[in-house]
Amino acid sequence: MKNFGKTAHIFVPVLINSSILVLSYDSEVHQKLWQPSFYIKVDKEIHYFAGHEISIWESLDSYGGTIWPATLALCQYLDMNRGTVNLLDKAVLEIGAGTGLVSIVASLLGAWVTASDLPEALGNLRSNLSRNTRGCCRYKPQVAELSWGYGLEQTFPRSVYRYDYVLAADVVYHHDFLEELLVTMRHFCQPGTTLIWCNKIRFGSDLAFLENFKMSFNTTLLADTGEVKIYSATTKEPQVSVMVSEDEVQQKEEEREKEEEEE
Ligand SMILES: C[S@@+](CC[C@H](N)C(=O)[O-])C[C@H]1O[C@@H](n2cnc3c(N)ncnc32)[C@H](O)[C@@H]1O
Repeated sequence: MKNFGKTAHIFVPVLINSSILVLSYDSEVHQKLWQPSFYIKVDKEIHYFAGHEISIWESLDSYGGTIWPATLALCQYLDMNRGTVNLLDKAVLEIGAGTGLVSIVASLLGAWVTASDLPEALGNLRSNLSRNTRGCCRYKPQVAELSWGYGLEQTFPRSVYRYDYVLAADVVYHHDFLEELLVTMRHFCQPGTTLIWCNKIRFGSDLAFLENFKMSFNTTLLADTGEVKIYSATTKEPQVSVMVSEDEVQQKEEEREKEEEEE
């Protein structure tokens, strides 16, 4: 119940023809009439990937409530290129998962998936994931709150959370968290991780992000549909090298000299 000045309003959501009509009731003046307050449109979309019919509930109240173009392109790419990107039994993290369609397809392809987003997106994400994966996936997908750039090492310490793949679809658009997004990508893209980022390039700031992305990672353009681009990226961090002791170097040197004398 929200309180505006002296008057208390009660908001009650009602589902009518797949739209949520929110009715408000003024309790202070005992107004008997329920009045329409605002609408949150809810739609269901059906998609076919990985041999399954997938039903996605959408809403218009947040960026994560609808399916964006990069999600469809990435789902199609993952479905059609299972040899190049083999998700079977792989640990996968999706960031900015929105409605969850990419995470659902990754789960159907046999991955152990964690779908992450801001708190307000998690309810719809969770229900889309469970409706479409229950009883038909090797691993039950998880849902996690993950706000780019915040508390990463505390919540997802790099020594514990290692993913084979990090997936991101249309996470770059007009918003103020591009730096935090890149920090998040760097945090999760460890040696052995492949980051797959799919995006529609719309603004100048998207191109600037792309340049920073290329500077941060070893990148490959996997696909370009004209509308969206799909990049794979790996870390530029040095791989852990096996240290060789001085004695071993000396021994190798002596063996080489001996071989040369024998020749
Ligand atoms: C444009 S939508 C894309 C959603 C989905 N990946 C798709 O392609 O359909 C961007 C997503 O990023 C999430 N997002 C935006 N800013 C974020 C932040 N600072 N931290 C975490 N997630 C964020 C939004 O909640 C939303 O789900």
